[in-house]
Amino acid sequence: MYKPKPTDGDTSWFVHDRFGMFIHWGLYAQPARHEWVQSKEEIHPDEYRKYFERFNPVDYDPKKWAAMARDAGMKYVVLTTKHHEGFCNWDSAYTDYKITNTPYGKDVLTPYVEAFRDAGLRVGFYYSLIDWHHPDFPIDILHPLRNHPDALEMNKSRDITKYAAYMRNQITELLTQFGEISVLWCDFSYPGREYRGMPGKGHEEWESEKLYKLVRKLAPNIILDDRLDLPKEMADIKTPEQWQPTEWVKVDGEPVVWEACQTFSGSWGYYRDEMTWKSPGQLIRMLINTVARGGNLLMNVGPTPKGTLDQRAQDALAVYGEWMDQCHESIYGATQSDYKEPLDCRMTQKGNKVYVHVFAWPFKHLYLEGLGDKVAYARFLHDGSEIPLKLNDWVSQHLQAGENTLILELPIIKPDVVVPVIELELKACSTS
Ligand code: GLC
Repeated sequence: MYKPKPTDGDTSWFVHDRFGMFIHWGLYAQPARHEWVQSKEEIHPDEYRKYFERFNPVDYDPKKWAAMARDAGMKYVVLTTKHHEGFCNWDSAYTDYKITNTPYGKDVLTPYVEAFRDAGLRVGFYYSLIDWHHPDFPIDILHPLRNHPDALEMNKSRDITKYAAYMRNQITELLTQFGEISVLWCDFSYPGREYRGMPGKGHEEWESEKLYKLVRKLAPNIILDDRLDLPKEMADIKTPEQWQPTEWVKVDGEPVVWEACQTFSGSWGYYRDEMTWKSPGQLIRMLINTVARGGNLLMNVGPTPKGTLDQRAQDALAVYGEWMDQCHESIYGATQSDYKEPLDCRMTQKGNKVYVHVFAWPFKHLYLEGLGDKVAYARFLHDGSEIPLKLNDWVSQHLQAGENTLILELPIIKPDVVVPVIELELKACSTS
């Protein structure tokens, strides 16, 4: 089986656990029309303050979030400690623009960390490199003030080196005050994207090399993402976003550890009126497809301004929960299979077990090329029932199967599972 390139951070648990929860939560939950609302609508920081002055998630109970994540089969979590708007979800000593200064008045990060750890999940932090609030962050193509007539003039007094130091101070807080943090997800770089004489930002502006050293010093095992604009080999994970890889993600031709991040609907932050919620079939197939290509899935929820998950998000999580209850064996500890996938299927593999996920239910026969002489036993994962390996000879002579092809005879009616999974137990000599 494919082995991804080794990483500096500890990805051994990560490639086993496969499925995590992303949480985007900040002031933008209140306008409820995309976490980029401040940039999209070019809202001046003074005006955006109305959300800061009103943030009061009275129903915030991270134990509930953690229970929902655990029940969905998720094994780790990554929460936005600060998103591009610059608002901080913890009591940082380096800014006033933080949760403890809102009407809510309390830190939300410590209870988050505790609740998810207690529920048995590993805890990660997302940290935005972009910051539309910090006075030393130079205005650029993404900034809400990019079209301000005095933008260039205003930039003269903005000192990015001070902002880079601010980030190091905050990352130090995040990695020293909350116990062991398993993932640091920094987001994102856009060097070369010049606008009206204002340059984009990358590793030089962020001082990413210094930041990298600091992170490795404070948390040698932490998993670091690939959005700091550092040389490729310094990132632990590749992070395809809002698209589904069709093959194992590679860097310079070599398979790497990767994690797709996806949303239930079209936005990361709470977006009340957005309606493109994915169907149960899409949700489950995305998870399966990801693992069948050697990756992890980080599935996002955007809590409401009151601190709850809305019904649509809860329903989507429940879809995962129900399927994972029955079929998790094909996900945890599994990866891309060595064998050829049958039509309309995705396969994962773990030791001597190959898992065939049937995306479109065929009429009666499933052809598994190259497995004719290798399988000792086959069963459904959802109910454990056997699928006999031998076909009636009279039937098999009529089927046009190639050499060494295993033909399974399936029930005519698709079992009542979003995506049924067939477990093939390989004969001892067949395990690679
Ligand atoms: C993008 C967006 C951001 C989101 C992130 C998650 O970079 O800027 O809003 O947090 O993707 O991957």
